[in-house]
Amino acid sequence: MQWLLIISFSAFALIILIFSWLKKSRKYESIDSVASSYDTWTNDKLLENLWGEHIHLGFYEKPRLKKDFRKAKVDFVHELVHWSGLDKLPKGSRVLDVGCGIGGSARILSDYYGFDVVGISISQEQIKRANELTINTDRCRFEVMNALNLKFEKGNFDGVWSVEAGPHISDKQKFADEMLRVLRPGGVLAIADWNQKDSIKTPLNSLEKFIMNQLLVQWTHPEFSSIEGFKNNILNSPYCGGSVEASNWTKYTIQSWNESIYEGFRRPRSILKLGLLSVIKASREIPTILMMRWAFSRGLMKFGVFRSRG
Ligand SMILES: C[S@@+](CC[C@H](N)C(=O)[O-])C[C@H]1O[C@@H](n2cnc3c(N)ncnc32)[C@H](O)[C@@H]1O
Repeated sequence: MQWLLIISFSAFALIILIFSWLKKSRKYESIDSVASSYDTWTNDKLLENLWGEHIHLGFYEKPRLKKDFRKAKVDFVHELVHWSGLDKLPKGSRVLDVGCGIGGSARILSDYYGFDVVGISISQEQIKRANELTINTDRCRFEVMNALNLKFEKGNFDGVWSVEAGPHISDKQKFADEMLRVLRPGGVLAIADWNQKDSIKTPLNSLEKFIMNQLLVQWTHPEFSSIEGFKNNILNSPYCGGSVEASNWTKYTIQSWNESIYEGFRRPRSILKLGLLSVIKASREIPTILMMRWAFSRGLMKFGVFRSRG
């Protein structure tokens, strides 16, 4: 009996230790903490094995639509391309993917739409993996670069694309300015991001504050902007061509949170083959995913899409 207690207590202490170590490693401290989080998430292969080459939500035309999660992610890319007007650009147009992950969107933009794409990410390991996955094309290349300090000339691109990178970036105005600076006058800006409700108009209650804090510290986010706030960031940029439109796509994307969890049960081998630590790591994401789902369903979080011109 005594031994049983000691063993249970030790196991419990070990789990707490592992979890607190993992938790500490995920809080946003600087741009380096974002780079190192994504380096780890890339090297442990968990995200890629489980959710494929796109690290973003999927698009579901109707609630509870039966659709493969990976197909929904590809659909999301096409939906944003059409909604933003990026598909009006001719083949061979130069497009920048800011916060490109392991290149899922960039490859569609080059293979399907014929664009010459440069993808940038703050994570060296992601860029390495993006290059490994991109074969038989010289239309798509990747570089390690900070979105807040783009090493391109003013007006270098015909289109700028960014999906779900903004929540990792502390200076949203500089983020908008940099993307618009490298976009040529009349070029297309297409952005999708997780946003929070405007807390100036409606202050958060204590439960909402707790949840929002978890959504920040668990996934290396310094801050979420509101849809209205980021729209103003685009409009206030000296490089903005004059107008910006935003839309809330929460209803099209919210199903993705449930699907993210179901994928673990649909493809158990994708996690099991990575070992016991990966099972713990994957389980650790479930509370955050459920909190995200809750926040989006309550209007606390909103999935904002933005289109503008240089
Ligand atoms: C949620 S992932 C989205 C990846 C990709 N857009 C996709 O949809 O598959 C966020 C991406 O933003 C990148 N990122 C975050 N902060 C960045 C920064 N300051 N500069 C460049 N990339 C950044 C991360 O490295 C990661 O690739």
